[in-house]
Amino acid sequence: MEITGNITDIKYNVFLKEELKKININGSSASNFSLENNIICGDCNVVLASLPDDSIDLIITSPPYFQQREYCGKTGIGNEESIDEYIESLLKIFRQCVRVIKKTGTIVFNVGDKYINGNLLLVPYRFAIEAQKESNVKLINEVIWHKINPTPKQVVKKLIPSNEPFFIFAKTNDYHFNKNAFLEYKDKFSNKKKNVGNDIGKKYFGLIDKSDLSNEQKELAKKELNEVIKEVKAGNVDSFRMKIKGLHALPYGGQAGGRLTQIENNGFTIIKIYGNSMRMDFIESCVESIKGNIHPAVFPEFIIQEFIKMLSNENDIVLDPFLGSGTTAVVAKKLNRKYFGIDIHQEYIEYANERINNCDTEIMEMFV
Ligand SMILES: C[S@@+](CC[C@H](N)C(=O)[O-])C[C@H]1O[C@@H](n2cnc3c(N)ncnc32)[C@H](O)[C@@H]1O
Repeated sequence: MEITGNITDIKYNVFLKEELKKININGSSASNFSLENNIICGDCNVVLASLPDDSIDLIITSPPYFQQREYCGKTGIGNEESIDEYIESLLKIFRQCVRVIKKTGTIVFNVGDKYINGNLLLVPYRFAIEAQKESNVKLINEVIWHKINPTPKQVVKKLIPSNEPFFIFAKTNDYHFNKNAFLEYKDKFSNKKKNVGNDIGKKYFGLIDKSDLSNEQKELAKKELNEVIKEVKAGNVDSFRMKIKGLHALPYGGQAGGRLTQIENNGFTIIKIYGNSMRMDFIESCVESIKGNIHPAVFPEFIIQEFIKMLSNENDIVLDPFLGSGTTAVVAKKLNRKYFGIDIHQEYIEYANERINNCDTEIMEMFV
């Protein structure tokens, strides 16, 4: 099925309506299908166009890569003759994605790269640059998926590609973003309750005594020092540093009301160090291999899990317009979100439904 034209184009809209009529959605009319826990077989250009504005909380998707596979014959997405045509096909879908996400929503778009005649095209970045030109969307992060087991290739004068970007776009500044939910497992290793011993903070008590602080200031400093020691022992704070007027170098920079003011007013400041590991724009995972899988390009469940946790709440609707084997829906279900999926191939939808019906509720942890 070939679709040309712009979404604001009347002819195009009439065409979409006609196409929608052809989509058989479990016997129900195409215009009133449920967005909750449903999968539609059809061209996502058509199905997306029928969704209401601002109706989806999160979109995670990976369109067919450029000249990689034939999912729908020679005319489907990914089989365009030029890279510019391919990017235009992606943008058409991307614009619909932007339209249908809520103001609090985000879109995670994964695009793969391609060598043509030995030349790396940088396809993901060509897409991201064009997508950024859309006035109603912002690129929030480029999260790099580092593949621990990339596909081996017999290339002599090239390194093996092992990275792929996931671009996170938002429609407004109110997008849902629970940063600490991303790679949450890392905190388990850094936030352990500590056996810190009795010497913790001892040197600071000595320094307070020999400082030029007033008696009142010394008393306050010792009180706050005792409190932070308790917090470290309880495991709420990883460690701390104390700066005392006249003994330590003054902090530079910062704003009025910051540490410098605390030192000036109280004679000291305590800097608490939290053990939460930094959340970086980088995720490691193996390329997925599922027993009995019939789909050639499956998302790693672990990556999708981390995005869904960070970018949505329970009961939110998560959409994948290129659902394939159903990974986004499977993980959404496991995390108590609602899923809505689209794929042009009935056999993939049947496989996706089988995965959804049989999935366990186990949250995946990374181990290398
Ligand atoms: C890269 S795969 C997505 C795989 C998916 N992320 C997974 O975990 O299995 C792309 C999917 O898009 C589907 N597809 C291709 N063109 C489509 C279109 N116009 N509308 C909807 N789905 C399409 C293909 O059938 C294929 O399953």
